[in-house]
Amino acid sequence: MAARTEQDVVRSELRWSIVVGLTVGAISLAILWAGLVRFINPPSNIETIDPNSVHLSAEFNEANLGTRVENGQVVTRVVATQFSFAPQCVVVPANRQVTLRFTSPDVIHGILVTGTNVNTMVVPGYVAQVHSVFRKTGDLLMPCHEYCGLGHSQMWATVRVVPEDDFKPDADGRALCEKP
Ligand code: CUA
Repeated sequence: MAARTEQDVVRSELRWSIVVGLTVGAISLAILWAGLVRFINPPSNIETIDPNSVHLSAEFNEANLGTRVENGQVVTRVVATQFSFAPQCVVVPANRQVTLRFTSPDVIHGILVTGTNVNTMVVPGYVAQVHSVFRKTGDLLMPCHEYCGLGHSQMWATVRVVPEDDFKPDADGRALCEKP
């Protein structure tokens, strides 16, 4: 094998910098495309809430938790707390955009809904918001996926996806999970 000259090395380095440059460029474009064209963003809208008075707040008081239809928009509110969710079950209609809003009064929790794009951290002091459309009806598991203490493994709730025709909010626009 012929000995490599300084020039060979420089050329090789140049080739690799082009490869790396193109890779970084492609990834950057993919991120910009996802964020600006497809509106896929981290579920962390910077919206603050006083964690000490979550249950007294206008939005996350007990009477307002769960699913509610507001101006035609389905909004589901859940409080994640050591070591349960309030409410334990929420009902949502299939094939309609649902806005899910979460907050925590104590420590950091995480929420995901199995088989959907819903996956966010729930940080005390902030409201985490996720939009989703549930395609399949049935009960979905919503476990806490951020270690939050000794009861973490017992912390989960149910998202009940019902056919659109069976989704019947009351006069106040609230919809509750019926007993299975
Ligand atoms: Cu809450 Cu883990």
